[in-house]
Amino acid sequence: MKIEKAKKMGFCFGVRRAIEVMERGAKEYGGVESLGAVVHNHRVVEQLVQLGVHAVPRLEQLEGPVVAISSHGVSPDVVESMHRRGFHVLDATCPVVRRAQHASQALAKAGFWVVVFGDEGHPEVQGVLGWAQGKGVAALDAEKLSLPGLPRKLGILCQTTQSPELYIRFVRGVMSTLPMRFAELRVMNTICRATIERQTAALELARRVELLLVVGSSNSANTRHLVEICSPLVETHLVEAVDGIDLSWLNGHSRLGVTAGASTPDEVIDEVVKKLESIA
Ligand code: F3S
Repeated sequence: MKIEKAKKMGFCFGVRRAIEVMERGAKEYGGVESLGAVVHNHRVVEQLVQLGVHAVPRLEQLEGPVVAISSHGVSPDVVESMHRRGFHVLDATCPVVRRAQHASQALAKAGFWVVVFGDEGHPEVQGVLGWAQGKGVAALDAEKLSLPGLPRKLGILCQTTQSPELYIRFVRGVMSTLPMRFAELRVMNTICRATIERQTAALELARRVELLLVVGSSNSANTRHLVEICSPLVETHLVEAVDGIDLSWLNGHSRLGVTAGASTPDEVIDEVVKKLESIA
């Protein structure tokens, strides 16, 4: 049995940066409360707890005095509320997400209605919409897009971890389902390069193997997207960690591929690869 790893996988610079901000903060202040998980990976969250970084699900539950914004970012209202309550705020928003937030703000200020192609329940999407100050909506399906009347100017952004193909399909869908009565349509590319690199490497591997394992947490958007785009090409399974491998999947396969989301630590990937090598 041959085991191949994707050429690009695992931690991106935004995730590394967020973890460093939390570790430094915990050391300097003796403890940090992060609003939501710092990154969507259970192992990382558990390791940060050992260092004194505790994830708090809701804004009202923060007690301070030192609080942190995760790599997914938040809306300006949330930042303001943290400062109003006198908290010291550490900001680990990924710079790529920050760029999408600023694009959202600029579009709204210029009179555009903002549409974010993404999961409306994901913290990044909620944060980016917050920067449009009530003048935006998230959608994954152009046909279900609900707009306030028919805006004259429409600006479209993308959740940073979506796939370019799906984004293009969405934009085409918006253009074909909405009557072309708006004066201006502006489409911004806010997909991050780390996402594209990981998706390209995963697809390249998916074409060469008989079974693909995607290592990462099921609440990680970029990990789930790797599964979504590779599944049509090859039998693909999402595994949180080594104990998630079902050995029956391997029956009859001689070429296995391993890839991982941008929030999956190297040690978790290595454990999975070692396990596969031990039975190869
Ligand atoms: Fe940032 Fe892209 Fe990673 S948005 S957190 S660099 S996947």
